[in-house]
Amino acid sequence: MSDHLSGDRVLITGGAGFIGGHLARHLVAEQADVVVVDDLRAEPLISPEGTGKFLEKPVLDMTEQDVEGVRLVYHLASHKSVPRSFRQPLDYLDNVDSGRHLLDLCAGVGVERVIVGSTCEVYGQAETLPTPEDAPLSPRSPYASSKVALEMLAQAHQRAGGFPEVGVVRFFNVYGPGERPDALVPRLCANLLLRNELPIEGDGQQRRDFTYISDVVRKLEMLAHGDIAPVINLGSGHSYSVSEVVGFLRDISPTAETVRKPGRVNEISEFRAGTTLQDRLLAPSHISVDMATGVHETLSWWESRDMDDTRRRVLLEETN
Ligand SMILES: NC(=O)c1ccc[n+]([C@@H]2O[C@H](COP(=O)([O-])OP(=O)(O)OC[C@H]3O[C@@H](n4cnc5c(N)ncnc54)[C@H](O)[C@@H]3O)[C@@H](O)[C@H]2O)c1
Repeated sequence: MSDHLSGDRVLITGGAGFIGGHLARHLVAEQADVVVVDDLRAEPLISPEGTGKFLEKPVLDMTEQDVEGVRLVYHLASHKSVPRSFRQPLDYLDNVDSGRHLLDLCAGVGVERVIVGSTCEVYGQAETLPTPEDAPLSPRSPYASSKVALEMLAQAHQRAGGFPEVGVVRFFNVYGPGERPDALVPRLCANLLLRNELPIEGDGQQRRDFTYISDVVRKLEMLAHGDIAPVINLGSGHSYSVSEVVGFLRDISPTAETVRKPGRVNEISEFRAGTTLQDRLLAPSHISVDMATGVHETLSWWESRDMDDTRRRVLLEETN
């Protein structure tokens, strides 16, 4: 795969963020000519240095010049917090409008392929587990609704045919170093290092499908060439409950206490990806980093960071 990307110009929106940053650093190492677009509205926990040419601007300010000569675009820029989307729903319209603008630019200059980042949240409370790509969409938050709208725009481009070839990827829970603590694993890690009780929202039985970041980057790289599907799940096909994830951290730090917090609005009881399509198109798509190892790696990264307790506390408060 590395030979194929060598020299190709690849543009990553949201490339200063968690998934985009890891992808950008990986593709730079593979000799791709990487351009990152990010307006830094979310403060990166890993410096965007080494991620290629950096264009600090919102997607809506991009021009045709920015996509000229680009073969492949990963569109990962997004507001992505479910709870915040209930408090500030209008911000999430930007997810839709930015996607519309970017797809139009790419169609205008004939970019070959655009991979659009969506989420398992579009399924809502799925009736079928594991959930295949053709399950009904039933969003339960403004965030999930913005991604459904983004997917519909992508579909319009798919129906038009020609360029760009557009593929939607539905990420399930991606975790690892560099993710802000608005997600479960980094939130637990930051709390553990602050010697806080580990927060469990609701009954802790809600289940999520976790994939370590390096496995996700590998799958995204595979989508650079070859056949793509209109929509593909990027998940592991296995789920863990919140209490089980807490258990991985208590295996490392047995004296850690837990504390119950109120459950979330419209909480989904389980996400679990159907992986039939992924296994066919991205074989071998098996998970190379198991959950216990991934949680350990993430905690080690939080420990090794040049960050004092005050900064950890501020990050936790900011992302609440
Ligand atoms: N991390 C996960 O578990 C997960 C799960 C499901 C879906 N996703 C999706 O994957 C993508 C990447 O997620 P992430 O975890 O890396 O998020 P992130 O918040 O770490 O990164 C997103 C980046 O996009 C930037 N950004 C947001 N809107 C922008 C805009 N309009 N213009 C320019 N920059 C903008 C932010 O500054 C940030 O650096 C998103 O589309 C998200 O919805 C992620």
